Amino acid sequence: MSNTVWFLTGNQGKLAEAEHHLKQIGYSVRQLIVDQELVYEPQAENLVTVAKSKINQALNFIPSDFSDGDMILVEDAGLFVDALHGFPGVYSSFVHSTIGNSGMLRLLSHLNSADPVSSANLRSAHFKAIAALWKSDEVIIGEGICPGHISLEAMEGNGFGYDPIFIPYDLDAELNPLSPGNYGEFSTHGKTFGGVDSEIKQKFSHRTKALIDLFNQMPSAS
Ligand code: IMP
Repeated sequence: MSNTVWFLTGNQGKLAEAEHHLKQIGYSVRQLIVDQELVYEPQAENLVTVAKSKINQALNFIPSDFSDGDMILVEDAGLFVDALHGFPGVYSSFVHSTIGNSGMLRLLSHLNSADPVSSANLRSAHFKAIAALWKSDEVIIGEGICPGHISLEAMEGNGFGYDPIFIPYDLDAELNPLSPGNYGEFSTHGKTFGGVDSEIKQKFSHRTKALIDLFNQMPSAS
């Protein structure tokens, strides 16, 4: 049985994360390198459709050393703001590269309160990631969610994308998110992902949760 997973990504951080998890259950990961210009982001209504489209596109770029039984992994994520009915969602990349974090803060500027818990509720949002694994025409989907809220101002420093404006809810010892106003075992202490180290962000990561959900559905490679 093949235990090679080809990950369609240009991001070395994502590659290392998948390697970390897959190695533990006996799989090896290789990067499926495709010119990013050739992979398009479909205007789909949900991340699963986007991920499946990327798998179909990846199938057109099978490398010559791809063996029978090898698998293809893709992953897609986005930010969903409740007060904006889930926007930017599947449009997260486009929105970030156009209006950016300052534009998102402007869109929500009318939603704030002197009470921090009320503010957090008004500005609630979550990151969602979908990891999809193709094997012999079958697709397994893993999902991960990181709930939190949009900050009142940007906190730059670390991370990428919407990290400077996203504050995750605290987590309990089992890594379950708590509602606003509750202090947990794991906390960014009111800082956005942009204001904390990447090891701390990792604890909350929607991407990690999606990979774990996916890998829980895979048999251990022998
Ligand atoms: P991708 O599918 O991982 O490329 O994510 C799509 C867009 O969502 C990115 O361009 C980012 O703007 C945003 N995004 C996804 N995950 C994160 C994250 O962990 N932090 C900040 N922004 C993210």
